[in-house]
Amino acid sequence: MSTGKLIVFEGIDGMGKSSQLALLADVLRQRGLPVATTHEPTDGPHGLAIREMFKARDRFRPEDELAAFIADRRQHVAEFLRPRLAAGVHVLCDRYYLSTIAYQGAQGLDVPAILAAHDFAPQPDLALLLDATPGVGVARIQRRGDTPNDFERLETLAKVRLVFSTLSCPFIRRIDASQPFQAVHRQILEVTLPLFAERQS
Ligand code: TYD
Repeated sequence: MSTGKLIVFEGIDGMGKSSQLALLADVLRQRGLPVATTHEPTDGPHGLAIREMFKARDRFRPEDELAAFIADRRQHVAEFLRPRLAAGVHVLCDRYYLSTIAYQGAQGLDVPAILAAHDFAPQPDLALLLDATPGVGVARIQRRGDTPNDFERLETLAKVRLVFSTLSCPFIRRIDASQPFQAVHRQILEVTLPLFAERQS
């Protein structure tokens, strides 16, 4: 049995990652592929601690946030991602370590050091980097009625987007997220379906 593919969705807030992930999961399942979906920060103890930290962010240092995201990811990798991938299940994950590089990197932490701290994390087969201006993201967040959190401010998102734009890992595919939802979906299918081509033949 071959191992599952790890496909991660990345980008600044308001790019439509979760909706696109859910739609891609539907398409893959309709094709008979085993698929699990998940997200980071997780709903586990470290993920909950992160959400608590985010309510009073000024009380924490960027280093504390980084440690919390890495602890959350360590548990997620060990208990969720690796077992599924080993069982041949394809995993779609809403945010992964490129988010830590971009968000915590935008707070001034050293990007190579953040990357090095992820030696435990399997490399994604594909990272769909949904990209549009922070203005597009914030407008979407406001339309869905969510209160923008600290990270959702235009200025911060612009810094995060800048770090995302510098990443050059071979598994990253950039998707223009300013397009209408269905056009974004089609672009995602174009880059994702070839990963599964051998299974369909
Ligand atoms: P998000 O995916 O927006 O979760 P939700 O929509 O459920 O609130 O993640 C919350 C915030 O956490 C988001 O602004 C990005 C930030 N984040 C980091 O700063 N570093 C990370 O490593 C991850 C995974 C997320």
